[in-house]
Amino acid sequence: MKFQKTFGRVLATAAVTIACLFVVSVSAEPNMDKYNRSCAVCHNAGVAGAPTSHDAAAWAPRLEKGMDALVASVKNGLNAMPPTGLCADCTDEEYSELITYMAEPK
Ligand code: HEC
Repeated sequence: MKFQKTFGRVLATAAVTIACLFVVSVSAEPNMDKYNRSCAVCHNAGVAGAPTSHDAAAWAPRLEKGMDALVASVKNGLNAMPPTGLCADCTDEEYSELITYMAEPK
């Protein structure tokens, strides 16, 4: 009986842990439709000096500016990057998820 109780508690803990991980990974999922029709156009191939997606070395100095500054760069445009990065309907949250996605190595 004691074993069953302990086992049940372990199972419940594992279930909660897995549920949390799932929620975290889902909320950080970038909007790939928006990525593919906007950011990808320049950032997949590093057009006009754009930091190439998943090139961690290219992104490291950018990330040092902080996420708020990076989101502002996209919204206002930066040199060859047009304002909004061609994603007029992206929210700040979506920008930050897209930037996180682009900056992480593959
Ligand atoms: C028309 C091409 C183009 C598109 C589309 C584009 N970018 Fe860029 N992006 C660039 C270029 C070029 C740079 C480098 C600008 C520089 O530092 O001179 C850049 C730089 C950035 C930076 C670094 C900004 C900084 O302050 O260092 C971020 C973040 C970024 N892009 C995010 C995005 C996101 C998110 C999208 C899609 C919503 C996007 N870009 C779409 C061309 C583009």
